[in-house]
Amino acid sequence: MTSPRKRIGVLTGGGDCPGLNAVIRAVAKSAIFDHGWEVLGIEDGFLGLIEDRIRPLAPCDVSGILTLGGTILGASNKADPARFPVGYNADGEPVFEDRTRQCLDTLDRHGLDTIVVIGGDGTMTCANHFVPHGVNFIGVPKTIDNDLVGTDITFGFSTAVQTATEAIDRLHTTAMSHHRVMIVEVMGRNAGWIALHAGVASGCDVIAIPEIDYDLAIINDFVKERARFGRRFSLICISEGAKPRGGQQTVNKIDPTSPDPIRLGGIGEQLAADIERCTDISTRAVTLGHIIRGGSPIAADRVMGTQFGHTAIELIAQGQTNRLVVVRDGAVTHAPLMASAGRQRLVPLDDPTIAAARAVGTCFGDIPAHMPSRPQADCDKLHAS
Ligand code: F6P
Repeated sequence: MTSPRKRIGVLTGGGDCPGLNAVIRAVAKSAIFDHGWEVLGIEDGFLGLIEDRIRPLAPCDVSGILTLGGTILGASNKADPARFPVGYNADGEPVFEDRTRQCLDTLDRHGLDTIVVIGGDGTMTCANHFVPHGVNFIGVPKTIDNDLVGTDITFGFSTAVQTATEAIDRLHTTAMSHHRVMIVEVMGRNAGWIALHAGVASGCDVIAIPEIDYDLAIINDFVKERARFGRRFSLICISEGAKPRGGQQTVNKIDPTSPDPIRLGGIGEQLAADIERCTDISTRAVTLGHIIRGGSPIAADRVMGTQFGHTAIELIAQGQTNRLVVVRDGAVTHAPLMASAGRQRLVPLDDPTIAAARAVGTCFGDIPAHMPSRPQADCDKLHAS
């Protein structure tokens, strides 16, 4: 079925995440096959609009990309057209310029009816800036952090959890061999979804998330008690945004030109040093960092990306403008474009996954956890096997 001929654009903004190409493919193929529209790919997020870097996307351009990580269009998380960084002044402060006009000229030049913007909070805010200028957007939310308000889940999250889980599984055996505490730091900014799910999936003994400040003494007691019961190793999954009770988040870098100037990271190393100093148990920290953003999306994210891209095109066909594709109660639907903006969906303290983890003996560092009660002889057998 075809509807009046349109020319639509698609861009990916913010940090990349697995599943972006699945969305781009679904947007392009649905628009071309179902409606006979033209599709243009905008390179490097809003930077492509500022610099007029736009290319046609034919079915052959999006063929074979479903399983690829990253984004064939490129992304940028610094290209806010309303506040575009152009350098530094004599005092070393960043200088910004408004590039709205250039973007509007680019849009006119290419005759774009609607742009499908695939991104997070920052990307939707950039898009919303153009709404008073009469530009139409359909938003597709993405982030590995799974912290967007208004949608039950974002694509990319499940792949990030899977990748982190596989990494922790590998660290499990080396932790056991060396009778060590092994700490794995994962991304997630201020939300602990990745650490919580990867920690539960890999059977971590301790999970530290930003929503629950940890007490170092409780973690130290827990790993020592485990050793006393024959579990001479412990696995800890910690979110980059976690912090000790009464402490601050660990800032890796501040980049004043970025819309997200605070880059977190380093809490895993800090906790490792604290545990080793206090318990005398050999402790190592591994930071997974961008590894969990890369690689091929798992099946669930490929499916979700395809559903989201197709839904974006259906919304355009229905005449909808400035809507955000979301998942509510398991169904793909839509909400206002800015439904997620300016707020973060944190892990609620009564989240059932936290309750389940506590029930199986996981320590969150806030209260003492269940201890293993297996007799020493059984533990010895387990370690020997
Ligand atoms: O929001 C996604 C995310 O990967 C966060 O988990 C992380 O803190 C941040 O982006 C890292 O951003 P960058 O790629 O700019 O270092």
